[in-house]
Amino acid sequence: MSGKKLRVVVLISGRGSNLQAIIDDATDPGCPFELCAVISNRPRAAGLERARQANITARIVDHTVHGSREHFDAALVESIDAFEPGLVVLAGFMRVLTTDFVDHYEARLINIHPSLLPEFPGLDTHQRAITSGARVHGASVHFVSSTLDSGPLIVQARVPLLATDDVGTLAARVLEQEHRILPQAIRWFAEGRLAIRGERVTLDGKPALLDLQAN
Ligand code: GRF
Repeated sequence: MSGKKLRVVVLISGRGSNLQAIIDDATDPGCPFELCAVISNRPRAAGLERARQANITARIVDHTVHGSREHFDAALVESIDAFEPGLVVLAGFMRVLTTDFVDHYEARLINIHPSLLPEFPGLDTHQRAITSGARVHGASVHFVSSTLDSGPLIVQARVPLLATDDVGTLAARVLEQEHRILPQAIRWFAEGRLAIRGERVTLDGKPALLDLQAN
């Protein structure tokens, strides 16, 4: 590929399977982005080891050593900005961010969430989907705004919710789609194909793909 690759910093808190999907995608020589760092708020996050295995800089900004949300977010900004990213990706990052943080990365901060937003923001999305009796569930990638799990949607993937599903089977089916749509959204961003128009996102000037079918 010609031209410079988009510099991406990924924030995690745990297992890092979405991070792994991004790492794997970035190994494609034609990939329009490169991972410059992975930052975790939890020192023992398994995802840190995935970053090290892939020779990507791994940093810890431990929220427990910062007295307030503001101090933690300021430390996080300092750590992220040292890598001069064009995009910051929240991939299983389990901290609520301050408005100052979100504003600082306006239009270059995206999140993966395991539900079809605006359904089920917050935690326990799979259990809540089962309890609600929904027939369809899924995952969303969106630009981050200062309200939790909200902001212009970039892409969603739907999966069937089966009568036989428990949280484990449903989470696994959704996770498979997360691993597909998160790298896809980063590629679109890196290729300059996304634009935010008010509350909506366009892809190549057309409404974004809010119904990406599972393969
Ligand atoms: C994913 O389901 C993500 O959508 C949610 O937390 C989970 C993180 O999984 N926010 P992983 O750390 O990427 O494996």
